[in-house]
Amino acid sequence: MRIAVYPGSFDPITYGHLDIVSRGAKIFDRVIVAVLHNSKKQPLFTVEERLELIRQVTGDIPNVEVEGYDGLLIHYLQQRQSNVIIKGLRAVTDFEYEMQMASINRKLAEDIETFFMMTNNQYSFLSSSIVKEVARYDGQISDFVPPVVEKAIREKFAGNQGK
Ligand code: PNS
Repeated sequence: MRIAVYPGSFDPITYGHLDIVSRGAKIFDRVIVAVLHNSKKQPLFTVEERLELIRQVTGDIPNVEVEGYDGLLIHYLQQRQSNVIIKGLRAVTDFEYEMQMASINRKLAEDIETFFMMTNNQYSFLSSSIVKEVARYDGQISDFVPPVVEKAIREKFAGNQGK
């Protein structure tokens, strides 16, 4: 059984992430979408809120699981008996950071492989940060995130006026 972990902050999940999840789920027996802490980012959604949104939008893919973890990614993989990390690459700008993370993870656990997938061209410009930025100023985000995610973002900003 090939279990792959697709980690990220998913704050919130976008169509770009969903594209990787659904394609990954065709390659691996099981894909675990893992919400992990990124020390470089201050999140908009709590981990629980992010997990709930991911569960709702991946519910139709039977071999996908969703879980949160606080700690090192490689420790999570070891705990789940997985040795594959899935990462989406949007453009060369992602490469340097992803290369650094893949190299550190390989150094820490040499049997764990990072498996890169090119994001579908139509999502290559997309990021959770961009979506939040557009939504914050009332721009249209329906092409970027599923309706349930759009609703959750709108509610966040309505409750955080002045942000
Ligand atoms: O979606 P992101 O924010 O680009 O994902 C980055 C993430 C969460 C996968 C990365 O920050 C991570 O793996 N965090 C867990 C802590 C860890 O293992 N750090 C060492 C490897 S960089």
